[in-house]
Amino acid sequence: SNRIMLGPLVAAIDQGTSSTRFLVFNAKTAELLSHHQVEIKQSFPKEGWVEEDPKEILQSVYECMDRTCEKLTQLNIDISNIKAIGVTNQRETTLVWDKETGEPLYNAIVWLDLRTQSTVERLINKTPGRNKNHLKHKTGLPISTYFSAVKLRWLMDNVEKVHEAVLSHRAMFGTVDSWLIWCLTGGKKGGVHCTDVTNASRTMLFNIHTMDWDPELCKYFDIPMEILPKVRSSSEIYGLMKSGPLTGVPISGCLGDQSAALVGQMCFKDGQAKNTYGTGCFLLKNVGTKPVMSDHGLLTTIAYKLGRDKPACYALEGSVAIAGAVVRWLKDNLGIIQTSTELEELAADVGTSYGCYFVPAFSGLYAPYWEPSARGIICGLTQFTNRSHLAFAALEAVCFQTREILDAMNQDSGIHLSQLQVDGGMTSNRLLMQLQADILCIPVVKPSMPETTALGAAMAAGAAEGVSVWSLNPEDLTEVTSEKFEPQINPEESELRYARWKKAVQRAMNWET
Ligand code: G3P
Repeated sequence: SNRIMLGPLVAAIDQGTSSTRFLVFNAKTAELLSHHQVEIKQSFPKEGWVEEDPKEILQSVYECMDRTCEKLTQLNIDISNIKAIGVTNQRETTLVWDKETGEPLYNAIVWLDLRTQSTVERLINKTPGRNKNHLKHKTGLPISTYFSAVKLRWLMDNVEKVHEAVLSHRAMFGTVDSWLIWCLTGGKKGGVHCTDVTNASRTMLFNIHTMDWDPELCKYFDIPMEILPKVRSSSEIYGLMKSGPLTGVPISGCLGDQSAALVGQMCFKDGQAKNTYGTGCFLLKNVGTKPVMSDHGLLTTIAYKLGRDKPACYALEGSVAIAGAVVRWLKDNLGIIQTSTELEELAADVGTSYGCYFVPAFSGLYAPYWEPSARGIICGLTQFTNRSHLAFAALEAVCFQTREILDAMNQDSGIHLSQLQVDGGMTSNRLLMQLQADILCIPVVKPSMPETTALGAAMAAGAAEGVSVWSLNPEDLTEVTSEKFEPQINPEESELRYARWKKAVQRAMNWET
């Protein structure tokens, strides 16, 4: 038949907090050929708790794969051209399953979840000088509800099935990447239990210097090392797909979603940075092959390790818990919008928050504060305030939070970023992009192909030894076309608004006292 000849294709599973996607790229041109997306349900069983169903997550991956393959076939593209699959995922989200039955033993505890707040406070109180950075020299991370170790501890202490499975050596722990790779490579019938260095670096059990699980950290959290997955590089063949239309295709790339976006944005050089607007918002800067520790509340994390024999690169990261999640909240909890695009229209109607400030500290505050007891606050309301102003304040909150991260980064390095590369779902909101440039006082640059997270995972998969259909040589990489948003307001006005935001943050921090 008249099949289109394209050369090798590479696919990516992008399993984010809010949705799952499967995308297929041309490995020569990086062109996105087809994709499918499915939204993921979140449950909030108690205040501060956030869970997802591991089986629904897995099902959504299969569904996206099937649908994308159907779409490709309709386009006359032969799916046997797909040479590799990369996995990229929401990080830190914690799962435990039974390796004999293949059954999850509890819901996935999502990274945003706050149930471990009292555990975290207790752990910090026990450290000399009540120092939340007590484990930072090994992990690059502050002790926080955010990372996997405390969630895993909670599961072992509070879920009888998990406790039993650990005792009877049947438990497997993993972040979402591990769960998916284990299931896709055969599950209870010989599935591969592994993770990559980027995901491992978010557990608080991983030593970012030795690049392996750390026995002392495991002891500190009292976690048996036998339940942990094998740590691998971000680009190598982990195993082969065991079912579905892509049976036999190697899974050969694995990166936490923020690392994948850094790769997809081609930030391979020391000093290059990107900011991704998803459920949360994450600014990562490549700092090269030596870890750099922050004095301003940023994390040190693994950026990527693109091959077994390749060096690891580190990143400084500013994590913001709530970005896109504030849009979902306005939609699902307040019902003041029906769709996310409506938010942009509403906010654009007024073009100002009219002095209203919205600090969405729903999960405490992450970088640069790391304050689990902070809570959301909306202030500056008057009789005049309406939902449009609130919508504008919500968008502005995302921009102010990014500004705080960028300031911390600039202070840490003494070098000021001259522009910011951005990506992620919210970047389709043009008002947000303009606001971001206005509030940062530097240009914001957005690639025309927005799926950079998936692209990064696909590149890693295609470049793996034994696959080698994608070159990661900077000279061979296709130039990304992009759009630039220049700051339009004067810096004084920008500073004034930012100063008010900072005041609102102080209220969110101390609201209980
Ligand atoms: O650390 C959490 C992060 O990986 C989640 O990303 O895109 O789902 O907000 P996203």
